[in-house]
Amino acid sequence: MRTIILGPPGSGKGTQSRLLERQYGAQHVASGDLLREAVEKETELGRKAKEYMDSGTLVPDDLVLGIVTERLGRVDCTNGFILDGFPRTPAQAQELDSLLAQEGRPLDHALVFEVAEDQIIDRLMGRRTCSNPACGRTYHVKFKPPRVDGVCDSCGSSLVAREDDTPQTIRKRIDVYDEQSGPLVEFYRRAGLVRSIDAGGAPSDVFDRIARVIEADAR
Ligand code: AP5
Repeated sequence: MRTIILGPPGSGKGTQSRLLERQYGAQHVASGDLLREAVEKETELGRKAKEYMDSGTLVPDDLVLGIVTERLGRVDCTNGFILDGFPRTPAQAQELDSLLAQEGRPLDHALVFEVAEDQIIDRLMGRRTCSNPACGRTYHVKFKPPRVDGVCDSCGSSLVAREDDTPQTIRKRIDVYDEQSGPLVEFYRRAGLVRSIDAGGAPSDVFDRIARVIEADAR
């Protein structure tokens, strides 16, 4: 499976990517996670990326491209990948296209998540993430609470809200998605790759909808 997931913040890209990884064995690669790891490690890239991420704007293409293409070249992506949050600009889409064409491994499809804005805000305001970078499990205070309030079920570390999950930054991220990433849907539609997914409702229902699309494409 070689797929990309396009969708606004909080549409469930990370949640569904992890389920797809488990079901289909393709590697989940999230540009946001790669950037947050660089910020955490205080690398030069991380220091440059942080101000953009904190304000909810996109990290410049020249910073993002290298880190994602390097990740896609690793051996664990040989059997396929699920790209979450990348590409996000026409330049990123063109670069991905050329890279995959050179390697003779084109995309199977582009999943486009659609979800109402009130659900996005509910999901992001209630998101909690494990503070241990090696774990990074994601929860939701209402929809996916941990067994013990504020504590990761998996590693016992404390749960925190993501720094960019504030009302003001969420608003900015939604606008940035509409303006800068929305046009990519047309790019992939022209290539015949778009599969629109109703990403509202429970995670298991969304997953079933995606699985039906993937299995129909595989026939
Ligand atoms: P990134 O990390 O990609 O964030 P995002 O696109 O804003 O998306 P999110 O991670 O917030 O949401 P998601 O759709 O993955 O939802 P999730 O599954 O977690 O990017 C962050 C920043 O990094 C950007 O603003 C930018 O600065 C930079 N960046 C990243 N990539 C870049 C690129 N390519 N170019 C330039 N800059 C880049 O779900 C959210 C919550 O909802 C969770 O709590 C979850 O449990 C819950 N939930 C999920 N699904 C459901 C459901 N069906 N029902 C109920 N709750 C649900």
